[in-house]
Amino acid sequence: MAHRLTTLCLALALASCAHRNAMPKATTKGPILIATWPFGQQATDKALLTLSSGGSPLDAIVHGIRLIEHLGCDGSVGLAGRPNAAGYSQLDACIMSGPDHGAGSVAAVEGIKHPISAARLVMEKSPHVMLVGEGARWFALEHGLESVDVSDLPAKKIAWEQARLAGLDAPDPGERGHDTIGLLLLDADGNLYGGCSTSGAGGKTPGRVGDSPILGSGLYVDNAVGAAAGTGLGENIMRYSATALIVEFMRQGLSPQAACEKMIHRIAASDPLAYDLSICFIAINKQGQTGAACSNGSFPYALTTNSTSEVHRIDAVER
Ligand code: GLY
Repeated sequence: MAHRLTTLCLALALASCAHRNAMPKATTKGPILIATWPFGQQATDKALLTLSSGGSPLDAIVHGIRLIEHLGCDGSVGLAGRPNAAGYSQLDACIMSGPDHGAGSVAAVEGIKHPISAARLVMEKSPHVMLVGEGARWFALEHGLESVDVSDLPAKKIAWEQARLAGLDAPDPGERGHDTIGLLLLDADGNLYGGCSTSGAGGKTPGRVGDSPILGSGLYVDNAVGAAAGTGLGENIMRYSATALIVEFMRQGLSPQAACEKMIHRIAASDPLAYDLSICFIAINKQGQTGAACSNGSFPYALTTNSTSEVHRIDAVER
C-alpha cells in the first residue's frame, strides 16, 4: 500500500515538473507556498485549498503536511517512512507562526500518525516549545491525536540492543534517505508561517534527532524578514543553525536565492565533507521572493500561488 502511494506521489509530482534551474519570478502578493521535493506540491496545493476554503494559515501548513505524513511520500515522512536501526519509526516535526513568533516541536515521537499536529498542539496548548519521546506521545494522545499500536516496540528495542551488544553494526543512516517535507507560506496579509515533518534518516540509531524539529536548523520563521526550511542529512544542517542563518542573510539584504546559496557555501567552506553534504534549503522573504539551493545532486521543490503550481528543479550550487 505504502509503495503504491509512493509511486503515485512520484508520478503526480514528476508529471508537473517544470523547467530545470528556471528561478520563479518574484511576486509580492500572497498566498505563496514553497515546499521541498516533488511531493511538496501536494502539500502546497492542499495548503492553498485550505486557505481558499477559509482555513487559517496554520491550518494550511498543518493540512498540507498531514497529507504528506499520510501518503508517506519518498519513504521519509510519517509512519510509512524508513524505520530506525531497531526497525520502528521515531518521527520529528515542528511548526512556526510568524505574527506571534510562536513555535512548537516534537522529536523522536513514536506511533503518532501526524507529528505536525502534535507540534501545533505543543505550540498552542502547552507552555512549552518542544516535547520529545514518550512525553511527546503522551501529550499527543492526551489531545486525542490518532496513533497506532506500539506495544511491540519494547521487544524491538530489546532485540536491537542485543544485536548492538553482539557487535552488529547499525546501517549507515546517511545512505538510507533523509528527506523532509518543509512547507513555507507567505499569506495574503504578508505574514509568514512554516512547518516541517520527517521520519528522519533511515537506519538511524534509536533516539537520534535530526534537524527538522530543531528551530533554526530544519525551520526558521521571522515575520519581519522571511522563512527558511532545510532537507537532507540533518547532521550537516543542525551543526550550523542553517535556517536561522539563512533568515539572517536575508535580513542583511540578500535575496532568498542568494541566502540559500551562501549557507551552502558557508558550510562547505568549513566542513570536512566540503560540498558532499546532501543538504538543500528553500526560503521565502517578506516581499514574496523565493529561493532554493542544494549542495550536491539536484533538488526539485514545489512553488504554488493562486495562479500557478509547479515543481522546479535546481542543480547543485556552483563551486
Ligand atoms: N532532514 C531530516 C533528518 O535528517 O532527519
